[in-house]
Parts: sequence; structure tokens; C-alpha cells
Amino acid sequence: MALLETHALSKNFGGLAAVSDLDLAVDEGEILGLIGPNGAGKSTFLNLIDGTLRASGGHIVFRGRDITRYSPHRRAGLGIARVFQRNALFRSMTVLENVLAGSFLHTDHGPFSVLVRSLDHVRKDREVMARCMDLLTFVGLQDKSHMMATSLPHGSQRELCVAVALASDPAVLLLDEPLTGMNAEETASMIEIIKTLNREKGTTTIVVEHNVKAVLGLCARAVVLNYGQKLIEGTPRECVADPAVIEAYLGADADVF
Ligand SMILES: Nc1ncnc2c1ncn2[C@@H]1O[C@H](COP(=O)(O)OP(=O)(O)OP(=O)(O)O)[C@@H](O)[C@H]1O
Ligand SMILES: [Mg+2]
Repeated sequence: MALLETHALSKNFGGLAAVSDLDLAVDEGEILGLIGPNGAGKSTFLNLIDGTLRASGGHIVFRGRDITRYSPHRRAGLGIARVFQRNALFRSMTVLENVLAGSFLHTDHGPFSVLVRSLDHVRKDREVMARCMDLLTFVGLQDKSHMMATSLPHGSQRELCVAVALASDPAVLLLDEPLTGMNAEETASMIEIIKTLNREKGTTTIVVEHNVKAVLGLCARAVVLNYGQKLIEGTPRECVADPAVIEAYLGADADVF
């Protein structure tokens, strides 16, 4: 059974159909690539899945349960975690504190108390601390735990965003352009993180990415969106060889191949 399915999922912004009648399924343990030119509706799709946006039509089913009307918080509680296209970190917190904040789903405290009143309380929770440090080690930031999050270079901030998302022990991880703005070394490191996560923890992942070469190396299956609709799905190689996909990219990002 698919872990996550969408049925005729749609999102309209006024007269613009950003996501249109989209049927998509992600299997447990799969890394699914979601590609398509700028404005194709990739981020909007992720916004619909994590509840940032309400669907205009259609359904989202997670583990057989219709979650279309669930709040973002309730979806996070079910294990849907997101890394946004732009780094979303607490600017006035250290690297470790950001991961601690992301771990609130594993404590008895609500997010509000963790973030505003009771960070000290959580700080004393050794188990949570040890888990957060393990996550920082996993993404290679263990030596930077006490630095201010925003003082990290871009690639490390992206890695920290992944650690924050992992702190909620997600069932499905939604990654929006995890490789954008990264140099070759940072790109290789992030790809390794995503692969290791999948191999060792079996984390189901949807990766939105413009770096098609990386998608080819990461995913067994990809879906191509264009104007909010599914153009094709198949192996990444099948997708990028498809004439409709090549045409969709021409004039936009023809050099992505
Ligand atoms: N909040 C919004 N209000 C109005 N229009 C929006 C909103 N969010 C997205 N759009 C429009 O919906 C379409 C899809 O946008 P979306 O950000 O999902 O594309 P994308 O595939 O993620 O593009 P990119 O690769 O550039 O990140 C675009 O035409 C965009 O301008
Ligand atoms: Mg986007």
C-alpha cells in the first residue's frame, strides 16, 4: 500500500491552477523525485501535503487516512516533515537549539512551550539532547552545535534544516530543492545524507529538485510536473528522455540536462 496518495489534488490561486487534478502515490521507503520547470507547482504540491496550503479540491490520503482537512500541526504529528525551499531556521538560536526545537514532537511539551518558555526544561532532558546530537553527527554538524545557526555557510544551513526535520522522526520527508545554491562538495554531502537516511532508516522521501543529474542518482522513480499537471512518471531516465519533458524545459532550464 502506498504511504501517501493524492487523488485529483488541486490548488487554484484565483484563475491560476497551480496544481491540477494530480494523482500521485509514494510507497513506503521510496525516494520519489519531483521535477519540472519553474512555476510547475512543485512547492505548491509540497505545501498541500504538509498543510501549509489548503487544497481547492481532491484528497490527500496518508496511511489510508484522509488528511486533506488536517491542520499542519496534526500532519506533523503523523510524521510529515518538510524542508522548505528557503532555509527556515530560528535565527537567534544555536545549531543545537534549532534541532531541539524540531524535536518537540518527541517530548511532553508543546511547540509553544519549547520555543518560548521551556527551552531550559528541554535542555535538561538528556535523552532529547543525545538524540539531537546524534542527528547533528548524522548530518556532519556535531562540531558546530554551539554556533549560531545563521552563522553557518549555506550548505551547512541546509544540512541543519534536514536535521531539524529529522528531529520529529518523520515517516515522510518533503525536501524542496535541497541542493540549490550548493557547491559541488556540499551537493555530494547532501546527496549522501539523503541516500544514507533512506538506506539506514528507510525514510520515505519526496525530493523536489532542479538538479536533474542528482535526481537521476537518487531516485528510482520520478514524476514530472508542468503547469500543475503530471506530464509523465517513470524512472528518472525515462522522464528526461521524454519529448514532452524536453519541450517543457526548453526555454526555461534547457541546460538542466
Ligand atoms: N501564494 C501564492 N499566490 C499566488 N500564486 C502562487 C502562490 N504560490 C505559488 N503561486 C503560483 O503557482 C504556480 C506554481 O508555483 P510553485 O511555487 O508551486 O512552483 P515551483 O514548481 O515550486 O517553481 P520553482 O521551481 O520556481 O520553485 C506559479 O505560477 C506561482 O507563481
Ligand atoms: Mg518551488
